[in-house]
Amino acid sequence: MEMTVMNHKDTETQWHRDARSRILVCARLCAIVSLCLCGSLLALAQRPPLAEDVFKNVQVLKGIPVDEFMNTMGVFSAALGMSCEDCHASNDAKWENYALDTSPKKRMARRMVQMVTTINKDNFGGRQMVTCWSCHRGSDHPKITPDLSALYNRPDEPDDTIAPAPNEPSADEILDKYIRALGGAQRVGSLTSFIAKGTSVGYGPEGTPRPIEIYAKAPNQRTTTIHTQNGDSTTVYNGTAGWIAAPLRPVPVLPISGSALEGVKLDAELAFPARIKQILGKWHVGFPVTIDDKEAQVVQGTAPGGSLATLYFDSESGLLIRILRYSDSVVGRTPTQVDYSDYRDVAGVKMPFRFTVSWLDGKENFSITEIQPNVPIDAAKFAQPK
Ligand code: HEC
Ligand code: HEC
Repeated sequence: MEMTVMNHKDTETQWHRDARSRILVCARLCAIVSLCLCGSLLALAQRPPLAEDVFKNVQVLKGIPVDEFMNTMGVFSAALGMSCEDCHASNDAKWENYALDTSPKKRMARRMVQMVTTINKDNFGGRQMVTCWSCHRGSDHPKITPDLSALYNRPDEPDDTIAPAPNEPSADEILDKYIRALGGAQRVGSLTSFIAKGTSVGYGPEGTPRPIEIYAKAPNQRTTTIHTQNGDSTTVYNGTAGWIAAPLRPVPVLPISGSALEGVKLDAELAFPARIKQILGKWHVGFPVTIDDKEAQVVQGTAPGGSLATLYFDSESGLLIRILRYSDSVVGRTPTQVDYSDYRDVAGVKMPFRFTVSWLDGKENFSITEIQPNVPIDAAKFAQPK
């Protein structure tokens, strides 16, 4: 797949190597986080747990929910090209060690969070214009001098916010073409639920295919379960709340909050695209880009809570081939990308039988073998675990 953001081969290899080591550690951490959550969750009833409720030694990243706190760790790792263990004492499932301040890099990272907050406050009215990525760009030490080879071979790095392009078709036209390509408004509108089965291949230690199931119900409920060697990993949006229940956790539920919640909501809604124009607002169209040697039209929208999502449609077929959506964190936006392919006919509606989800800490390649449309789905599939 051609990456629009990172099409420089060496960078990509380096990135993959870094990502692999990060993800190995992250998998282990799932267990650790849940140990922490175990002690604190009972007391917290409804409110999503904040980082300082759950972790022992939070000094600068206070007042944010646990899922956002963990996203900031993903931003740190990605921005610095580090694995968790570069800042945290190496440890196997001893979660107390994450609270230790023995690593000078960890202490430096804390100072950097404060530095970045001050830069943004003093110069940009508090807007998040400078992030860890702005300087570090995947390296522990920011470069001082422009690199001449990079200067003349610069990868294409689009802004998160797409500038409206003149002379492109309107967002309405592109979205209408998409619905027609799927089978037309009437057929798309009569899809009200489905159950999909297949396999997924994760990254690093999850590199062998594992069975998966997706349960989706219009307008916005979706449950994805991956049957991993260690137990089921399930991501749910049930119409109001979202959570991730992953293996090796004594208390198996991590609530999804804020703009990350808007993200899983968007995934759930887009499974039933009849209402696509209403799902997002402030639609606008950017200049076309090239994805996998094909031209794609770029349409950006904004979710009700303000998160951005960019949709890429194959200029020829009109089908949706990529979504890039963003969640906010106190140290910068975290991107999630879904690439769709292998559209096949299901009850007169085209549905993608392959899709890849990429985010800062991992990547899953889903391959669907069977979709049952318009079947009843047990409400228990969307019920929040106790
Ligand atoms: C660049 C350094 C850096 C990297 C890389 C990093 N962290 Fe952290 N981590 C920190 C800092 C700094 C804190 C403390 C934040 C504070 O004081 O508010 C922290 C705190 C934590 C805590 C809370 C510990 C406690 O009980 O107080 C956990 C858990 C954690 N990190 C997990 C991770 C995981 C998992 C990764 C890899 C995905 C990771 N970190 C990568 C710097 C880092
Ligand atoms: C304005 C530019 C800038 C920004 C923004 C920035 N840093 Fe840095 N950072 C630096 C510089 C310069 C160094 C020193 C590198 C050196 O000494 O070689 C550094 C060093 C570090 C180190 C020590 C690395 C090592 O290997 O010892 C860590 C950890 C770090 N930064 C984390 C962060 C984090 C986390 C963020 C975001 C919250 C951040 N930085 C944002 C410029 C920046």
